[in-house]
Amino acid sequence: MKVADKYYQTIYAHSHIGVVEFIDQTKLPYEFELVSTDDYLVLITAIRTMQVRGAPVIGICGALALVLGTQCDSSNSNIEHLAKQIISSRPTAVNLYWAVTKIKNFLLNTPENQRKKNAWNFAEDLIQSDIRANKLIGEIGSEIIHKSLDRPINILTHCNAGWLATVDYGTALSPIFHAFEQKKNIHIWVDETRPRNQGLLTCWELKNLDIPHTLIVDNAGGLLMMQDKVDLVIVGADRISTQGYVCNKIGTYLKALAAFDQKIPFYVAAPISTIDPKFDHDVNFEIEARDQMEIKQIYGVSNDGKRTSIYFPDYETYNPAFDITPPHLISGIITEKGIFKPSELKGLL
Ligand code: MRU
Repeated sequence: MKVADKYYQTIYAHSHIGVVEFIDQTKLPYEFELVSTDDYLVLITAIRTMQVRGAPVIGICGALALVLGTQCDSSNSNIEHLAKQIISSRPTAVNLYWAVTKIKNFLLNTPENQRKKNAWNFAEDLIQSDIRANKLIGEIGSEIIHKSLDRPINILTHCNAGWLATVDYGTALSPIFHAFEQKKNIHIWVDETRPRNQGLLTCWELKNLDIPHTLIVDNAGGLLMMQDKVDLVIVGADRISTQGYVCNKIGTYLKALAAFDQKIPFYVAAPISTIDPKFDHDVNFEIEARDQMEIKQIYGVSNDGKRTSIYFPDYETYNPAFDITPPHLISGIITEKGIFKPSELKGLL
């Protein structure tokens, strides 16, 4: 995607200098800053603190952490140890487990003297396949966004499932970007997504492309749907069971309930790698409970443009980061292989 007319990925593997470079999402939308590192611990911290966030890109970042860790010690025991450490940095999005396990298995099956170099190549393949899958999600998903000549099609989205959440293109926003390129008349309702306000990242992405959008508080969606101001909902996913239960950013379920009640199509966009075959009969996904401070403290900039934060009183809080939307509320799941009913996922795998 372009920022000020220059093309960027959210994360790069610079194998020729042994460095990983990523966009620090905690600085956005105020500052655009890239961080470079050759230290795998910096990448684990980036995942934990959400400098790098969004299910697909934390998978890639985790795989690159394993690449960097392998450069110092490429023994089997170190690779196993690193993989465990990286996977535990965020528990809910399956993409982290998926990507780290994939590169771990590849390395364990590679002769030890070739691991350091081949790790970079394997990670680059993961990066390119993420880009390809998300581009396809955009092309396929834009079909559900109809052309309307007299008024914009209003699409509601939750959290940030744009290009920042992936290496490029995004998941839920990819059909939106593609539809806009096709000159479809669209307007996006962007949920603020407390407590981390990923909606601001979505607004930042949409503004970069001049796509009409409006930021709303998380609880506004139901009213807007009731007032016929929403034609379609598209969200991303962090983990999907084979029965079509979708784990996504907290607040998704309430949007799905309201959309179901108002007979508004509710779509989920995610690569096939977000479907977790381990969750076949149950939906006991591990829901990450994040730090209470994310609720008690709000970050922003003051009138003079300096970074600042305000604190609420020290009340007890609880901060689950994800919820689960059952399949009967979901119209379809947009993947790089097509759009499927939740009940079709099992056959697809
Ligand atoms: O906690 P985050 O911001 O890493 O949450 C993950 C997400 O970005 C969302 O849940 C998103 O909708 C799915 S990832 C494309």
